[in-house]
Amino acid sequence: MLIRVPKKSEIKEHELTPQSVYHSRRDILKKLGIMTATLPFAAQSQANIFDIFSSGEDNAEPATVFQRSPLITNSSPYGSGLSLTPESKVLTYNNFYEFGTGKGDPVENSQSFRVDPWKLEVTGLVNNPITLSYDDLLKQFPLEERLYRMRCVEAWSMNVPWIGFSLAALLKAADPLGSAKYVAFETLHDPKQMPGQASQFVGGGIDYPYVEGLRLDEAMNPLTLLSVGLYGQTLAPQNGAPVRLVVPWKYGFKSIKSIVKIHLLESQPATTWNLLARHEYGFYANVNPQVDHPRWSQGSERFIGEGSIFSSRRQPTLMFNGYEDEVASLYKGMDLRSSY
Ligand code: MTE
Repeated sequence: MLIRVPKKSEIKEHELTPQSVYHSRRDILKKLGIMTATLPFAAQSQANIFDIFSSGEDNAEPATVFQRSPLITNSSPYGSGLSLTPESKVLTYNNFYEFGTGKGDPVENSQSFRVDPWKLEVTGLVNNPITLSYDDLLKQFPLEERLYRMRCVEAWSMNVPWIGFSLAALLKAADPLGSAKYVAFETLHDPKQMPGQASQFVGGGIDYPYVEGLRLDEAMNPLTLLSVGLYGQTLAPQNGAPVRLVVPWKYGFKSIKSIVKIHLLESQPATTWNLLARHEYGFYANVNPQVDHPRWSQGSERFIGEGSIFSSRRQPTLMFNGYEDEVASLYKGMDLRSSY
């Protein structure tokens, strides 16, 4: 998805991330219980980039590793029968440009991210504005485990056991006004904690905070999940702790991470990737094997499962990522080529 990275010569001195921000990559992965040999290729290649910044002394600084907590969940019928992507890959092969544009950057740069205290606000065209604290997020709504397919616009996919609750439950509690037609989402803006927000070079030229949006009926669909965890535990920062969206029938960039604001409004909100390249990334971003990205085919995808990234199998892309029965009616009568 990488669109614009300023040339090195354009970087101002204060934008270079200080060496002290970079932890020992090997140390982090060891503490996460992940051996470098099991890392996907892109994450391994990041190790070389890290070496440029590292002091070269392996034991120089013990790395902090973000502590996740176990979550109790109800089971759900979603996704039984899908084969899981190993947790080590879900934790190390990420897109979270606030922590860098390489697939291995988020795990490396986010381990000291603070999620408590947290404040998630639901505002705008609602009768009952809501503010949720970190504890409310984990306790106020009954949590379910759902195994969903996740399809990135870059044509790779994973199957992830998310933990969370339907966004609809939160929106109903806020009681939308009749005039509310869209829902806008916003990620935390904190350049001190997020190196990609402090530096255009690290953050891929995005104008932060990262913003996303859905139509209200899409947001109310039972599949749309506010996730607080995966693989039985609270979310890791690289996956969007403490709370992120998961919209399994849309390309992954709609699934905004580390959300602080949900705002109901009458008109379609601006969205980050659409603002960057509107011919490539639409507002709808429904997974569709018949509508190619201008620069690559969407007809098939690389499934990240067991084994090395080199051996990941290609499989056909499914319409609405396999959730056609649940969501096709939302788009009845629409031209999905122009509303991409
Ligand atoms: N949310 C924010 N705030 N910043 C991002 O860079 N990347 C998106 C999405 N949410 C992104 C984000 C993209 S492109 C994808 S594919 C998914 O997060 C990746 O989620 P994962 O790293 O947990 O697999």
